[in-house]
Amino acid sequence: MPGDSRELTLDAMTKWGEALGARLTAPCVITLAGDLGAGKTTLVQAIARGYGVTGAVTSPTFALVHEYHAPKSPVLHLDLYRLDGPHQLANIGWDDILASRAVVLIEWPDRAGTELPPAAHEIILAHVQGNPELRNVTL
Ligand SMILES: Nc1ncnc2c1ncn2[C@@H]1O[C@H](COP(=O)(O)OP(=O)(O)OP(=O)(O)O)[C@@H](O)[C@H]1O
Ligand SMILES: [Mg+2]
Repeated sequence: MPGDSRELTLDAMTKWGEALGARLTAPCVITLAGDLGAGKTTLVQAIARGYGVTGAVTSPTFALVHEYHAPKSPVLHLDLYRLDGPHQLANIGWDDILASRAVVLIEWPDRAGTELPPAAHEIILAHVQGNPELRNVTL
């Protein structure tokens, strides 16, 4: 349901992300927006684990793209924080990424401007004022 919003603890966020990951079928693109520390990487890790990635999923801050193996398809984790703008997307192989039959998880999607595929599923994370243990998740 678009606009569905809830406040989750780290534990609940992790369980929700794993359940979401278990339901995914490739190809699919999920964008994760939200401030620094909002929980984007934490949620990506849970989704990837639920989808079947067994190794550690780390933040691709310098590489911008990390690829993981899962039984059903590859998982691509992008962090576009350091992208100066959509013009740099060609450098990371953007067209190939979107054409791949993978699960694609994108942090800082706003950096891609209008280059995001229309079929991308959007998740927005936010801190909850007054409670550092909660995050607001909007679908
Ligand atoms: N309810 C919660 N959900 C997710 N993370 C939480 C929650 N409560 C606390 N945290 C903590 O918040 C931090 C979120 O960090 P994370 O790296 O996932 O954020 P991020 O959005 O990827 O940040 P960045 O923009 O720097 O990439 C973690 O240290 C995590 O343990
Ligand atoms: Mg992150």
